[in-house]
Amino acid sequence: MNRHDQKIADALTTEDLWKLMLGRVPPIVSEYFRGGADAETTMRANVRAFQQSQTTAYGAQKFPNLDMSTTVVGQRLDVPWFISPVGSLRSLYPKADAVASRVAGEYGTVMALSTLSGTSLEEVSAASKGTCWFQLYLCGGRETALRGIARSKKAGFKGLILTMDTGVSGMRAMHARMKPMEAVAPFKGLGLMEMIELALRKISLAPQMLPRLPWLIRHFRDGGLIQFVNVIDDKGEPMPYTDIGTQLAASAVTWDDLKWIKEAWGNEHPLIVKGIHCAYDARKAEEMGATGVVWSNHGGRQQDRVPPSLHMVAKEMPLVGDTRLDFMMDGGIRNGTDILIALSYGLKAVGIGRVTAGGVGAGGHAGLTRAFEILSSDLDRAMRLVGVQNVEEIRSRGSEIRRESLLAGDSHLPPFEF
Ligand SMILES: Cc1cc2nc3c(=O)[nH]c(=O)nc-3n(C[C@H](O)[C@H](O)[C@H](O)COP(=O)(O)O)c2cc1C
Repeated sequence: MNRHDQKIADALTTEDLWKLMLGRVPPIVSEYFRGGADAETTMRANVRAFQQSQTTAYGAQKFPNLDMSTTVVGQRLDVPWFISPVGSLRSLYPKADAVASRVAGEYGTVMALSTLSGTSLEEVSAASKGTCWFQLYLCGGRETALRGIARSKKAGFKGLILTMDTGVSGMRAMHARMKPMEAVAPFKGLGLMEMIELALRKISLAPQMLPRLPWLIRHFRDGGLIQFVNVIDDKGEPMPYTDIGTQLAASAVTWDDLKWIKEAWGNEHPLIVKGIHCAYDARKAEEMGATGVVWSNHGGRQQDRVPPSLHMVAKEMPLVGDTRLDFMMDGGIRNGTDILIALSYGLKAVGIGRVTAGGVGAGGHAGLTRAFEILSSDLDRAMRLVGVQNVEEIRSRGSEIRRESLLAGDSHLPPFEF
């Protein structure tokens, strides 16, 4: 085992893996995964909301077997978390989407693949022993989206997630200031002075690249700058990476779009709407044919100052009223107790975004497997210590296992890591 592999094996928390990822991946790349919108208040609040939540612990109990399985939108997951769609994952590690899919399958759970991914739908589906969902953005317009839907069905994807909180892209200032698109711009077509300027710009990245040569070598062996191979235009060409900004800006989804999306997707497998913030939108999603919704503020990357996901779940979910929807959430999940707390509000499953990026970015299959092992042992421990045997029990006992914090201030809380 080399030194880096040993560090992965020694990681005890997802924060440990996140730090390994930051050490392995150059900041101009990793910042895309770290950042949140505007002042990043919602991004941090997602994590704070969990840190501020408390549980009780019913003692003197012993469970020979715990059951972490759950059923969501009619599909069984062996663990109550799934991989939330994370775009550009492949810039962290070769074929990272397929790597993530493999790990999810090994844990009997779902990999949700972003439209903005660099690994083909077919490869991602083939890598998993389990179920994959395809997350749809309308980049490239309706015909392109229809091609993506048809292709995902053919490739064996068993769920379609429509993300509806990206009417425009959030403003992630720190990454924007790094000017990542300049760093990957081609020399072709430039005049001499512009070429020199661009060359200097690229050379200025050397101090962050040189200490991270293993990442750089793997990145170029993997084909270098990713292409969005699941967004195929009418000429059969994939969307270039550098078009991401303009394409996203032109891809806002409306409730009307849900009609043709649902029609194209069909009824065989579930339609899930992600980016739900309020009871009104959850009800509307159900009316339009969704069977599941994900309470999510996009990891604090879209509208800053919206409430943390956990608070949306606590406040808005009960207002949905009579419904057949299955509820999920993502945003701020960093450990097993977070998962337990989220489920105690009645959710069927939770999604992990940055924990996936941290794991796969720390070291591909080994890194993400370690992240899953950590979540699994955390949740196992938390369930035994709180005194619950299965997910259904966590969901139904709800407020009986949560406790309100009577502490003033937050100086007792751990620092925000990611
Ligand atoms: C780098 C990054 C890229 C993301 N890309 C997508 C995407 O392509 N589609 C999408 O629906 N959500 C995307 N999300 C949002 C995640 O699906 C998820 O909502 C969020 O990461 C959850 O918060 P967490 O990172 O605290 O777990 C992305 C999140 C991150 C951090």
